[in-house]
Amino acid sequence: HAATAATGKTRDAFSSSFGVLAATLGSAVGLGNIWKFPYVTGANGGAGFLVIYLLATLLVGLPVMISEIMLGRKAKSDVVTTLRTLAPAGQPWWLIGAFGVVAAFLIMAFYTEVAAWVFAYVFKALRGDILSSNPAVTSAAFKGLISDPVQSLLWQWGVLLLIGGILLFGVAKGIEAVTKKLMPLLFVLLLVIGARSLTLPGAAQGLSFLFTPDWSKISGEVVLVAMGLAFFKLSIGMGTMITYGSYFRDDQNIPTTTLRVMSADLFVSMLAGIAIFPAVFSFGFQPGAGPALLFITIPAVFASMPFGHVFMVLFFVLAAVAATGAMLSLLEVPVSVMVGRFCISRPRATLLNLLLLGLIGSSCALSNSVLADVKLFGMTFFDLFDYLTSNVLLPLGGIFICLFVAWVWGKQRMMEALSNQGVLDNGWIVKGLHGLLKLVTPLLILLVMFKGLGLI
Ligand code: PFF
Repeated sequence: HAATAATGKTRDAFSSSFGVLAATLGSAVGLGNIWKFPYVTGANGGAGFLVIYLLATLLVGLPVMISEIMLGRKAKSDVVTTLRTLAPAGQPWWLIGAFGVVAAFLIMAFYTEVAAWVFAYVFKALRGDILSSNPAVTSAAFKGLISDPVQSLLWQWGVLLLIGGILLFGVAKGIEAVTKKLMPLLFVLLLVIGARSLTLPGAAQGLSFLFTPDWSKISGEVVLVAMGLAFFKLSIGMGTMITYGSYFRDDQNIPTTTLRVMSADLFVSMLAGIAIFPAVFSFGFQPGAGPALLFITIPAVFASMPFGHVFMVLFFVLAAVAATGAMLSLLEVPVSVMVGRFCISRPRATLLNLLLLGLIGSSCALSNSVLADVKLFGMTFFDLFDYLTSNVLLPLGGIFICLFVAWVWGKQRMMEALSNQGVLDNGWIVKGLHGLLKLVTPLLILLVMFKGLGLI
C-alpha cells in the first residue's frame, strides 16, 4: 500500500487500521513493560511511583504522543524532513529530529543488549538449567551471562542482524506483518503467568506493594524517573511516533488510536507487574533488585508451575518478540532519515546503521564485564545511556515538540490535521490539547527535569 507524500513521492505505509494500531502498539510495548517497568517500579517504592507514572502518562505522554503522530501524518516523511517542511523556512526545528536520531542510537545501544539477554534466555530456558525457585541459583545464572563478554557481544550482534533482516522487508511486509501476529499472544501468556503468580503463597504482599502507596519514597528524582519511564514506554520525545505517524492512514482517528495504544500498553505493564511482584515476595527476592529483576524472578515462577519449562520458553520467545517490535521502530528512525534526506537506498541505510550500532552497542554489551569499571558521571555506559535518554533527551525532545505544535504550528493547523478527511468531530479535544501543549505540559516537563536533576 502506498500513500502520496507531501513531496509527491510514493511511500510505503501501514495497510490497515488494525495494522496501524498493532505496529504503533508494537513500538510502545516492549522490554519497557516486561523488564523496565517492574524493576523501576520495584526500585522506587511501588504504588506511589505507579501513581506518578500514571499522571505523567496522562499529562505529558498523551499530548506529546498525539502531537507526534499528527505531525508525522501531516508531513508523511522522516523526522528531520517533517520538522523542516512544517516549520517556517530558516527556523532550526529540524534539530528535534537530529537529537531524536541520537536518542534512537543511544537507546538501541543498551536495548539491544537487554534483548540479547532475552534471546539468550530462550535457549537457556530450552535447556532447562535456569528453572529454579532458589534466588541464589537464578541470580547466579543471570550474573554468569552478563559478565561473560563473548556471550554478551555475540547475542547482541545476533539481535542486530535479526532486526536488520526484518527491516529490509519494509514497513507493511516487515514491521506490520510481524507485530500483528504476535502481539495478541503476549497478552494471553502474561495472563497465564499472572494467574500463577497470584496464587503463590504470600502473593498478597506483592499486590499491596504494587497498589498501596508509600509516599515517603517519593522524591524529585523519583518523579523524574517516573516521567522518563512514560517517555520511554510510549516511544515519544525522539520522533519515533513522528516516523510511525507518517505511515498512518488519512482516515485513522489519531486521538482514539493514541488512547487505545496507551491503555493497552498500560495493561501490559500492569500484567507484567502482577506476574512479577507476587513472586518477588513469595520467593523472598528483593523488589529493588534493579535490571536483574525480570531475569531472576520469572524463572522462579515457572519453576513452581506445571509445564513450567514449556511456558518459560514461550515467555522468553514472546518477550523477544515484544522487544523486536520496539527495536524495529527505533531503528526505523535513523534509517528513514537516511533514506528520506540523503537518498541512500533502504538496504544500504539499514546496513550502515547496523554497523554503527554494533560499535556503539558493544560499549553496553561489555558494561558488566570488561568495561565495568569505566564510568562517566558514576555510571557504566549501559546505565548512562539508559539514564540520559529517558531523563534528559526524551523529555527535552518532548518540550520542543509541545512548543513547536502550540506556538509555531498553531491551533488552526492542529484542527485540520486532526480532522479526518475534513470531518471534525473533535473540536473540544483540539482546544484542550492546545491548552496543554502551550504551557502546562512543557512547564511540567521542565520543572520535573530541573527538580529531578537537582538543578533547583
Ligand atoms: N517503548 C519501548 C519499550 O517500552 O520497550 C522502547 C522504545 C521504543 C523507546 C522506541 C523509544 C522508542 F523510540
